[in-house]
Amino acid sequence: MPAISTENLTVQYGDYYALENLSVEIEHPSLVVIMGPNGAGKTTFLKALLGLITYSGKIRIFNKPPQEARELIGYLPQRDTINMNVPLRVKDVLLLPLTSRSLSIKKEYVSLAKQNLSRVGMAEHWNSKFGALSGGQQQRVLFARALMTNPKILILDEPFSATDVKTKMSLINMLHQLKKEMTILIVLHDINPMVECTDRVLLLNKKLIAYGQVSEVINEENMAKLYGTHIPVIQRGNVCYVMGGDRHA
Ligand SMILES: Nc1ncnc2c1ncn2[C@@H]1O[C@H](COP(=O)(O)OP(=O)(O)O)[C@@H](O)[C@H]1O
Ligand SMILES: [Mg+2]
Repeated sequence: MPAISTENLTVQYGDYYALENLSVEIEHPSLVVIMGPNGAGKTTFLKALLGLITYSGKIRIFNKPPQEARELIGYLPQRDTINMNVPLRVKDVLLLPLTSRSLSIKKEYVSLAKQNLSRVGMAEHWNSKFGALSGGQQQRVLFARALMTNPKILILDEPFSATDVKTKMSLINMLHQLKKEMTILIVLHDINPMVECTDRVLLLNKKLIAYGQVSEVINEENMAKLYGTHIPVIQRGNVCYVMGGDRHA
C-alpha cells in the first residue's frame, strides 16, 4: 500500500488555483524531496495532506482520507509560519500536543520526549525557554516534536532554513536512519546535501512538473521548466547536483 496517493488534487484560494490536478503516488517507506519556486504550492500540498485545507480531487494516506490519518503524520511547519516567541519551555513544546491524554501515558511520553530531544542533540535544553533559543536550536526542538507520535509519515517544510551546516548534516544523518522505517516528505530549495538519500524528487509549480529518481528528474531542462531560468546541473556518477545553490528568492 502506498503511504500517500493523490488523484487530481486541486486547491483554490478564492479564484486563485494554488495546486492543479496533482496526481502522485508515494511508496512506503521512502524519502521524497519536493522542490519548486516560492508560491509554487508546496506548503499548500502538505497542508492538504494534513487535512488542514479544503481541496477537490482525492487524497489517501495509507488508504484513509486526511481527516482520519492525522495521527499517522508528524509535521514540522515552515519556520515563518510559526510563532517562535511562545512563552514555553522546551519540554512543554514537546509535551503540549499530548496534554489531553491520561497521566500514565504522559509518563511514557516524558521519556520519549527526552529521547527525541537527545536525538537532535538538544538534551541539555529540556528546561530552556523556547523563545530564547537560536533559530537552528528551535528548529531542532520542533523536529523532535514532529517525532513525538511515532509517525509513519514525517512532513518537513523547509527544515534547514535556520540551521547551520553542522546541524543540517546531523539532521540529514537522522533522516538517513528514519527513512528506513517511515516515509519522509521534505521541501528543500537546495537538494545537493540530500541527493544520496533521496528516493524520489517531486518538482512542483502549481502542476506536477516531474516526479521520479534524482537522476531522472534533476536536469537542466526540468530546472528551466521549474524556475523559468537556466540553472546548470552537473552529473557525478549517478548523482546530480544543481549549481544554482539555494534558490530561495
Ligand atoms: N491562506 C491563503 N489564502 C490565499 N492565498 C494563499 C493562502 N495560502 C497560500 N496562498 C497563495 O497560494 C500560493 C501558494 O502558496 P504556498 O503553498 O505557500 O507556496 P510555497 O510553499 O510553494 O511557497 C501563493 O501564491 C500564496 O500566496
Ligand atoms: Mg512554503
